[in-house]
Amino acid sequence: MKKHCVFLFLLIFLIATQGCGRKENQNEILIGEYSSLTGTTATFGLSTHHGLMLAFKEVNEAGGVLGKKMILVTEDTQSKPEEAATAVTKLITRDNVKAVIGEVASSRSLAAAPICQANKIPMVSPASTNPEVTKKGDYIFRVCFIDPFQGEVIAKFAANSLKLKRAAILKDVKNDYSIGLAQFFEHTFTQLGGEIVAAQAYSEGDTDFRAQLTALKSTDPQLIVVTGYYTEAALIVKQARELNMNMPMLGGDGWDSVKLLEIGGEALNGTYYTNHFTPDDTSALVKSFVAKFKSNFTDTPDAMAALGYDAALILFDAIKRAGNTDAAKIRDALASTKDFIGVTGRITIDKDRNARKSAVILAIDGGKTHYLETIQP
Ligand code: PHE
Repeated sequence: MKKHCVFLFLLIFLIATQGCGRKENQNEILIGEYSSLTGTTATFGLSTHHGLMLAFKEVNEAGGVLGKKMILVTEDTQSKPEEAATAVTKLITRDNVKAVIGEVASSRSLAAAPICQANKIPMVSPASTNPEVTKKGDYIFRVCFIDPFQGEVIAKFAANSLKLKRAAILKDVKNDYSIGLAQFFEHTFTQLGGEIVAAQAYSEGDTDFRAQLTALKSTDPQLIVVTGYYTEAALIVKQARELNMNMPMLGGDGWDSVKLLEIGGEALNGTYYTNHFTPDDTSALVKSFVAKFKSNFTDTPDAMAALGYDAALILFDAIKRAGNTDAAKIRDALASTKDFIGVTGRITIDKDRNARKSAVILAIDGGKTHYLETIQP
């Protein structure tokens, strides 16, 4: 009995101090992932995680990297920037990971990047689009486009394709991505002769947007741009329709989630958003990725699943070219990534450690998302 107690105590002590830590053995390479597996943007993290799992499974089935098995060590950020910082600290100091993949949300990548940089551990964000993320230092990379481009794509689509001139903006003022994207949209839209007739703010977690929408309505906008994430975006569109505001509503990649249509339903008809990827892409590479993904996880991959998959592939490729897991070598190899053909497009890392890539525009109609067009940078 006494023995059992000691053992139990030891076990609890170990779990409390180590978490689910994982030591690398000589046949393995440990890679950290910090993702929002729970919280307000849980679909972002789950999708990324599934994309990563598929990439790790495939690479290991093919013999691993440098003859070693690639091991993914995952930490949940709970959709909070402070937890993102804690998560990467654990991955780096407790698990000694050789590189880190994450996060989707820019605010969380911005909180974690300085820690990766200070420890000289390469970080690859799959999906954070705010320009500031990779400015945190020369160990910070991303495999997606950035918001000055995304904002321009939304603005050009509104001005040139929809031929609308009077726009209103609704942004999440607690979200770096949302604030940035709104600003980049405004920049191009006004350059193209458009006018921002009103702007309103909200914060993640809000559920009633009627006051802001009513204020926007009084300025008679022809379109509304909502630069936040899917939960609030879906509620905003729904409440706008209830207020008889039936103009086109536009968003960015933050709208991408199965939850968007689940929450917003038919109210989303007549909305558009930009994204990194569409499962409707008919290229052989994307078709095979979608089929493999579905057979592993049943659901269709969204942009974050595809970007997670590409982030892992880019990192594997860099470690192979580096020839060992020396952090500076992996960093240099990542920086020289050129013309890598991923499921989200051709990836070349530029001098600012960003990827120059095309964007897709999606339209929602009849309660379904449709692919409209691809815009080159
Ligand atoms: N680009 C968003 C951000 O930086 C995150 C995101 C990427 C959301 C892709 C959905 C799809 O915060």
